[in-house]
Amino acid sequence: MSVTVRVPAKVNVQLAVGAARPDGFHDLANVFLAVGLYDEVTVTPADTLRVTCAGPDADQVPLDRTNLAARAAEALAGRYGREAAVHIHIAKDIPVAGGMAGGSADGAGALLACDALWGTDASREELLDICAELGSDVPFSLVGGAALGTGRGEKLTPLEVGGSFHWVFAMAVRGLSTPAVFREFDRLVEGLDVPEPVASQPLLDALAKGDPDALAAAVSNDLQPAALSLFPELADTLAAGREAGALAMLVSGSGPTTAFLTPDAESAQAVATALRTSGTCRSVRVAAGPAPGATVIDG
Ligand code: C5P
Repeated sequence: MSVTVRVPAKVNVQLAVGAARPDGFHDLANVFLAVGLYDEVTVTPADTLRVTCAGPDADQVPLDRTNLAARAAEALAGRYGREAAVHIHIAKDIPVAGGMAGGSADGAGALLACDALWGTDASREELLDICAELGSDVPFSLVGGAALGTGRGEKLTPLEVGGSFHWVFAMAVRGLSTPAVFREFDRLVEGLDVPEPVASQPLLDALAKGDPDALAAAVSNDLQPAALSLFPELADTLAAGREAGALAMLVSGSGPTTAFLTPDAESAQAVATALRTSGTCRSVRVAAGPAPGATVIDG
């Protein structure tokens, strides 16, 4: 008997970052949109906890206890006084270290899958609590759709979305470490007065209306200068997307994946083709959002 959960990637359509807090984290106004690129996490009873991974980037995924999927299984097992004796297999399609919450997706997926496998029947609130312990983006991976994340990004308010948005994602030749990007943010704002992060009302209105032009005018990412500072070549990818006719382009979260908003599915394909031939990225994917959160698809 095994259980498989499908979990989406995310793009941050707004990422407003405040000054570093005493605990080192940053208060955020983080507008998440789940998009239709998915990892699938399958859990099967086993003698001991074991993680395997397959997919184009599988060799970059840690298979030890630092993997968020392993930590999720241990956290749930710990709460219910049982052994985390499962084989977790991750069929990975979300880019690794890309700023699209791939690791968080696996944490949320393993948590939901183990809950179903073990019949722990944890409440939604309890699952969200465990997600928040695992990482700032993990609660959103469970919930999906669109949401405003405040605090360090883990306190979620669901958002209304009035239509589907069509995106192109360009994967970079190497990854970026999220803590390193936040440290670079701190360095770049040193001595400056960093405002409190607040969600943009025009952006929330654009999401609610499902209006890609209005969303394009409102997207922003305060981590983008830091990501570009650590990875200057990303500017070439952004420029290639602009030339190809994207409505808006931005670094996804802490990067280095770049995200391009397009008017419709057809133009997304055209922008994807142009980016593929631009020589400025490793690979290109097309995906629409919002997408549903972690969902049991088998078991
Ligand atoms: O929460 P998570 O473990 O995913 O965060 C990874 C790292 O990103 C943190 O260790 C911290 O350096 C940085 N971070 C932050 N402020 C946030 C979220 C993450 O500084 N709100």
